[in-house]
Amino acid sequence: MNVVLVCGSPRRKTGNSAFLLDALARKLEGRAEVELRHAVARPSEENERTAELAAASDALVVAFPLYVDGVPASLHEALERIGERVRAAGTSPRLYVVANNGFYDARQNALAVEMLWLWGDAHGLPRGRAVAVGAGEMSQVAPMGHGPSKNLGRAFDRLADDIAAGCGGETLFVEPNFPRFLYRLSAHHMWRKQAKANGLKPRDLKRRAFDA
Ligand SMILES: Cc1cc2nc3c(=O)[nH]c(=O)nc-3n(C[C@H](O)[C@H](O)[C@H](O)COP(=O)(O)O)c2cc1C
Repeated sequence: MNVVLVCGSPRRKTGNSAFLLDALARKLEGRAEVELRHAVARPSEENERTAELAAASDALVVAFPLYVDGVPASLHEALERIGERVRAAGTSPRLYVVANNGFYDARQNALAVEMLWLWGDAHGLPRGRAVAVGAGEMSQVAPMGHGPSKNLGRAFDRLADDIAAGCGGETLFVEPNFPRFLYRLSAHHMWRKQAKANGLKPRDLKRRAFDA
């Protein structure tokens, strides 16, 4: 079977979405021919090729970071092209979704996942499964399936099995094997460090435009 993985993060190869797709590709080794593509924000040959490959695939996996509770605009152009090609070819690859977000709680991705399902419905793509990854910025701290990424490993094993079997199911919401309060503490530490490096005090982080 042919599987096309589309990375919708503007960070491209260094981002968490690409890391998650690389891990998925490894889990599919020996079971599928996998092609990883990066979405481009503007009309391009690269997106045309991605759309062509997606339309000819058995399964399409779209991964992206959550941006303001939605899908990043950089993915829009590629999705448009894929939709057009799928309609023209009359094919229906099964759609799988991988969303990851910066806050700890994976459920924050639920609306963005729904956006992708609705896009797929509009183009006749059957729904597979979505994995929603909370604390996405921790995805790369450990090999998948180990330490804080133990839950992530389980969810991605399931996703790979579903793709290989051509089936789907409910969204899997995954958070790291790491306490939420420690994640928040380290995020606060990081913001304070950045504030200091920019000549600000920690209290400046709480300033609002209308206080200025
Ligand atoms: C413009 C922008 C908007 C974001 N909006 C959200 C958000 O609404 N909720 C959230 O939890 N994280 C948000 N994030 C954080 C990203 O989802 C998070 O850093 C993610 O892990 C990045 O994934 P990537 O490396 O695949 O791009 C936002 C990041 C940026 C740059």
